[in-house]
Amino acid sequence: MKIRKVVFPVGGLGTRFHPITRAIPKEMLGIIDKPLIHYAFEEAIAGGIEQFIFVTRQGKNSIEDYFDNILADYENKEGKTKYCFCYVRQNEPKGLGHAVLCAKDIINNEPFAVMCADDFIYHKKSCIGEMIKQYNGTNMVAVMTVPHKDVSKYGILDIKNEDGNIVNAKSVDEKPSVESAKSNLAIVGRYVLSADIFKILENLEPGVKGEIQLTDALLKMIPSVGLAGFKFEGIRFDCGSKSGLLAAILHVAAEDKELSPIIEHFYKTKL
Ligand code: UTP
Repeated sequence: MKIRKVVFPVGGLGTRFHPITRAIPKEMLGIIDKPLIHYAFEEAIAGGIEQFIFVTRQGKNSIEDYFDNILADYENKEGKTKYCFCYVRQNEPKGLGHAVLCAKDIINNEPFAVMCADDFIYHKKSCIGEMIKQYNGTNMVAVMTVPHKDVSKYGILDIKNEDGNIVNAKSVDEKPSVESAKSNLAIVGRYVLSADIFKILENLEPGVKGEIQLTDALLKMIPSVGLAGFKFEGIRFDCGSKSGLLAAILHVAAEDKELSPIIEHFYKTKL
């Protein structure tokens, strides 16, 4: 079945970016001249997505205003667009799993994508588009290897077997301790999911950090639909952290003809 819908969970508080995120949504932080959510939007479009479901909250209205303003850039000559935007509220930040559950009635009963805009993936091919091409009914997550000392920041796969860029998981654990982690293959914010996940999320107890964890729902579904890790190409920046956002800005600037001399000058004179 064609994947037409993406959920953008933008209901998080973004506390690592206080104070700026007290007034500006984290997803509206810019890489030069474009907010993070716009990069995610373009990646989704390149992957064939047409319907965008934002799970939003108090203080995030600028995201809606932004898409109202840029939509004209995506219209055809007749002033029509094939893209459709929906906004649902997550009234309390109860976790990523809870945010995805908020989109249940709009997704209905079809497989769908989830993208966390603070995971910025720099590559000429759309990561979510590549995942959609390979989706076959098994829940799919984007994965990358991380330094072992960092495993407690991620959902970590326990690997059953590997086939090219696909890793089949026998288990998955959200933020395991360094001692208990079964691998250093970590989930980053791209998912293609069966709508069956809503039944699981509805009945899920809070997990790590007292939040409804998407990873816990994926674990429960392994016996029925399985779990595949997609080893994506490109560079991922954790733009939910200050260092990650800075690295992303520098990377994009270094690739830009007008901006790269500034990076070079800074490097020569300040470092
Ligand atoms: P994070 O774990 O980065 O949390 O969320 P956060 O609140 O955004 O940021 P910090 O840790 O306080 O700095 C990962 C993704 O899940 C979404 C976030 O918006 C982000 O895209 N999320 C998280 C929700 O939509 N709702 C939640 O309740 C929690």
